[in-house]
Amino acid sequence: MPKTLIEPFRIKSIEPIRVTTRAERERMLQAAQLNVFKLRAEDVLIDWLTDSGTGAMSSRQWGAIMEGDESYAGARSFYRLERVIRDLTGMPHFIPTHQGRAAEKVLFTAACKAGDLVPNNCHFDTTRANLEYLGVEALDLVIAEGLQPSLVHPFKGNIDLARLEALLHKDAARIPFGMLTVTNNTGGGQPVSMANIRDCAALLHRHGKPFVMDVCRFAENAMFIKMREPGYENKTVREIAQEMFSYADGATMSAKKDGMVNIGGFIVLRDERWLEPVRNGLILMEGFPTYGGMAGRDLEALAVGLEEGMQEDYLRYRLRTAEYLGERLDAAGVGFVRPTGGHAVYIDARTVLPEMPVQHYPAWALCNALYLEGGIRGVEVGSVMFGKRLDDGTETYHSMELVRLAFPRRMYTQSHFDYAAEVIAEVKDKAASIRGVRITRQPRQLRHFTADFEWV
Ligand code: F0G
Repeated sequence: MPKTLIEPFRIKSIEPIRVTTRAERERMLQAAQLNVFKLRAEDVLIDWLTDSGTGAMSSRQWGAIMEGDESYAGARSFYRLERVIRDLTGMPHFIPTHQGRAAEKVLFTAACKAGDLVPNNCHFDTTRANLEYLGVEALDLVIAEGLQPSLVHPFKGNIDLARLEALLHKDAARIPFGMLTVTNNTGGGQPVSMANIRDCAALLHRHGKPFVMDVCRFAENAMFIKMREPGYENKTVREIAQEMFSYADGATMSAKKDGMVNIGGFIVLRDERWLEPVRNGLILMEGFPTYGGMAGRDLEALAVGLEEGMQEDYLRYRLRTAEYLGERLDAAGVGFVRPTGGHAVYIDARTVLPEMPVQHYPAWALCNALYLEGGIRGVEVGSVMFGKRLDDGTETYHSMELVRLAFPRRMYTQSHFDYAAEVIAEVKDKAASIRGVRITRQPRQLRHFTADFEWV
């Protein structure tokens, strides 16, 4: 067998990307106040801002779109997707929403009250924000290995079961349910092992608590289990995913990831404990239960996408792509969160800009440098995203300075990755000339999306 792992698809429809000059990029970044969120997408060559809703659909999905039944109630497209989701999750109640955060909002509004506490390996930003909005404390209990970027561990997304158990003893009355996010996005796209999922569910159930999973990237997680967890090498990804779901009482999903669609999401529930308030909340916030927040055509595209997202040649190629970029970064002496995760590579900016003080936001500076050097857009996961300006004018900083390069599904080929690796190596060589930034204007919350900067 030839060793090269190829993209397991060929290209039928293309979307041109525009090569710009360095002088143009200097101008455009300046016009965006040195904030890549404010660039126009057409001025970006390789857009690795997020893997969410940005992928390419297949010809089968585009075909299915034409089959969409747009009936308000009882659409055929709803029942088709319901069959696929019941088979995958084993859960009878399927509630469609327009994306992941809507699923979170509807479920949490039904299941939580102010003063509650919800543990997770790591809450994603919107999960945390939706809980905190309801006055609920969102607690991250990922294993200690999950917080050390350079440490290699097969399942860095695992939850610390001892800390979860201690919490269940101490604070049981405040805990409406426990969660696991698969894969753990905030921790670097790292997987959770089947053993950890099983033990977490058993522990919660022993304490009479339901177990809810955030399953945006369930297929990537299942593939990691197949590749890394003894006993699963000969099971299919579908069987592994089915087993993952079998331990849960409910799940929220952003279908914009492993659902292989541009928009969509859902809640699934095993029993009726939250069903009534969830249905009522859905009607209020999203739509009638047989379409929720989705058009009939999007329900069809998701029914096909969920199946395609579990294809093993696709998943092998996808996980290998991230690993390959990691190898190229290694060769260039650029540090990153190890091992590489499912959907993204997280560059450790301190290994490129070791001298830059945190006050000059090294990960933000690196993000800007990647755009200026090669038109690549990533996202800072550092002290702009997680730090804060306090009322007395002082700042708090994040423990890590990372740049996330997240890969849209089925969109970029190996030569795009080779190009990116060259750009990153070039940036590292020129590190001495990279300038830090200062914030000139910022909102109180989620400042990274809209803040303005100037060069130090
Ligand atoms: N949960 C996880 C683990 C996520 O990564 C996301 C989105 C959501 C929930 C919310 O889903 O965007 O459909 O409302 N993550 C994207 C990202 C935005 O770039 O990582 P959504």
